[in-house]
Amino acid sequence: MSREYWEGLYQKGETGWDKGEASPGLVDFLAARPDLPKRKVLVPGCGMGHDVRAWAQHAFKVTGMDIAPSAILTSTEKTLSAGLRADFRLGDFLRDEPSASFDYIFEHTLFCAIQPEERDLYVNALRRWLKPDGLYVAVFYIIPDRDGPPFGSTREEIRARFDPFFELVEHWVPRSYPNRTGLEWMTLWRPL
Ligand SMILES: C[S@@+](CC[C@H](N)C(=O)[O-])C[C@H]1O[C@@H](n2cnc3c(N)ncnc32)[C@H](O)[C@@H]1O
Repeated sequence: MSREYWEGLYQKGETGWDKGEASPGLVDFLAARPDLPKRKVLVPGCGMGHDVRAWAQHAFKVTGMDIAPSAILTSTEKTLSAGLRADFRLGDFLRDEPSASFDYIFEHTLFCAIQPEERDLYVNALRRWLKPDGLYVAVFYIIPDRDGPPFGSTREEIRARFDPFFELVEHWVPRSYPNRTGLEWMTLWRPL
């Protein structure tokens, strides 16, 4: 989907994916792991920045990235209002050359938002943006939909795409927003 498509949705206020709060799975993950080193995090497709602020609340050095200018504007304003520090950058996670590499990348509803044909680009982008000793933290949306976004996927498809380049080190079904209960798969991966 193009920058114009996503910006158009923000302009029209058609942002039904936005629940006004961070991913419950991420909130629980951060609360349960206070000893995670407070290094650099990238949240691609950050939307209005709820997940970025969750990482920032735990003192990580976090950057939110989005292809839609309105998402970056709203995220920046909400983060300032919350008295938190984070960087936001307008960009295309799939196609931009990284200006920096990150210790953590957090995925939440970007993988299901892009065209399924772009998923190879996504995996390659992840390999560019994540440090070789980094951690990829992902909440995948496991739904059957073919006419997205959101576009569905299965655990098997995700394993087939990521296993050649990443080791799946932990996975579980996280706490979710009420309408996504049981439909999310939280995963931690290390580059091979
Ligand atoms: C379904 S929304 C999810 C937003 C946020 N992660 C959330 O859960 O609230 C997908 C977001 O990804 C952004 N996006 C789509 N393609 C992108 C790309 N190639 N690079 C960066 N952001 C992208 C859209 O503008 C949109 O904000």
